[in-house]
Amino acid sequence: MKHPIFAGNWKLNHAPADAEQFMKVFLAHYPRRQDRTVLFFPPALTLPTVAALVNDRSDLAVGVQNIHWEDHGAFTGENSAAIAHGAGARYALIGHSERRHVFGETEEQTGLKVAAALRAGLTSIICVGETLEQRERGDTVRVVVRQLRAAVSRIQPSQIIGSLLAYEPVWAIGTGRTATPEDADAVHTALRAELGALTGDQGRAVPILYGGSVNRINAASLLAVPDVGGLLVGGASLEPEGWATLART
Ligand code: PGA
Repeated sequence: MKHPIFAGNWKLNHAPADAEQFMKVFLAHYPRRQDRTVLFFPPALTLPTVAALVNDRSDLAVGVQNIHWEDHGAFTGENSAAIAHGAGARYALIGHSERRHVFGETEEQTGLKVAAALRAGLTSIICVGETLEQRERGDTVRVVVRQLRAAVSRIQPSQIIGSLLAYEPVWAIGTGRTATPEDADAVHTALRAELGALTGDQGRAVPILYGGSVNRINAASLLAVPDVGGLLVGGASLEPEGWATLART
């Protein structure tokens, strides 16, 4: 039986006061469900507000969109995994394509961040995905497997088991262009095989989410892919009633 994970990445949206209003509406439209988990990834300064509002719901949790790889030090403007945990985060997105492609985050840094998340007790959602150019060159599997290996290079194979993966093709993020269920299936199957190789099979249970222009219309067909363990959603997670509906898919 699948226990799907619905993760809403708010990116740079929703100040604390908006988030309070959002959560009021969301909670009214989304009664507790034990067969799935819904995650919220607000901006760091909004995170404590959301964390306080999901506090008494075991089916909901909050994560941070990014962390620094060091635990403390002279890194103006950054947040550590421990600070995020202290503010109420239980998950961390690592290597989101906007971190990689807008902010120049390297594969080396994703490995350091996954290790930092683990030290602080945050569950990593390791994001991988190819650009359109890489896909057209036939490089998709090679790229995502390389990104996965780099992201877990600083932790023990047995520690990979507590993480989650998200396959987000860069060309599908925020573009309205979604991978077909067949595209997602092919890449998830390749990632699953690599997880098996890295962990001596135990990692085969790691959930792999799909992300990239997911909406209420395409969510069901993507979730129907056997190896899609959940959805990582940007734009369609920004409005509370719509997000509550999507999370009931
Ligand atoms: P999108 O974003 O759903 O708006 O394409 C997904 C993501 O960036 O995680």
